[in-house]
Amino acid sequence: MRRPLIAGNWKMHGSRATVHALMSALRDGVSGFDALDVLVLPPAVYIPDVVRLADGTGIATGAQNVGDQEQGACTGEIAADMLVDVGCTHALVGHSERRALYHETDALVAARFAAARRHGITPVLCVGETLEQRERGETEAVVGAQIDAVAEQAGKEALAAGVVAYEPVWAIGTGVTATPEQAQAVHAFIRARLAEHSGHATDVRVLYGGSVKPRSAGELFAMADIDGALVGGASLKADDFLGIIARADEARSA
Ligand code: 13P
Repeated sequence: MRRPLIAGNWKMHGSRATVHALMSALRDGVSGFDALDVLVLPPAVYIPDVVRLADGTGIATGAQNVGDQEQGACTGEIAADMLVDVGCTHALVGHSERRALYHETDALVAARFAAARRHGITPVLCVGETLEQRERGETEAVVGAQIDAVAEQAGKEALAAGVVAYEPVWAIGTGVTATPEQAQAVHAFIRARLAEHSGHATDVRVLYGGSVKPRSAGELFAMADIDGALVGGASLKADDFLGIIARADEARSA
């Protein structure tokens, strides 16, 4: 059985003061949730603070992106071994905001994924379609190509060592969550595609992301192929994030 993973993507929000306040609330709140994994993904400058504040809590710390190259002349990038050096265990790759706002291609995302794996970082590969793509019936073609690029470039074994997050672009930050049935259908497709690439696909955790809130989380987590959530806005509020964690724990023991 796959262990649920609840991840909080803080995006470009916060200050030292809010990071400390949020982490101290999470420190108290997560104790007792021993059968699932909790990950927070702060802006890179706060990673060392978060690693220190998470010490002893079981909360893992990740980065929102990772360099595609080894250390060198790549201004503005952060190499995977630097993330390891400061205590990161995970990194997002291919978040739709990176793809849309910073024009990251499937090939660049795959190179980031490969670099993370070379240094033992668990990449969280974000995939998902826009509203226009969904309306044109292209969801599976888009998501399939995003996965295939990683399998081809980073390798099938690397792919099977990562996490996948299905984040329909139309559900991110809009308050519109995919219905549990819509999400489950794409999660099942993702799992089948992973299985075509690797026999270890049944172990890969596939998270749902897009306007997840405590009130919508329970029915999502009840679906067979939804192994947790990648939470944006609600991860900035300790009560909401802890509420989502509680729903995952309930679904696990149901
Ligand atoms: P929201 O939960 O704010 O919709 O963001 C989802 C997301 O993009 C997480 O990576």
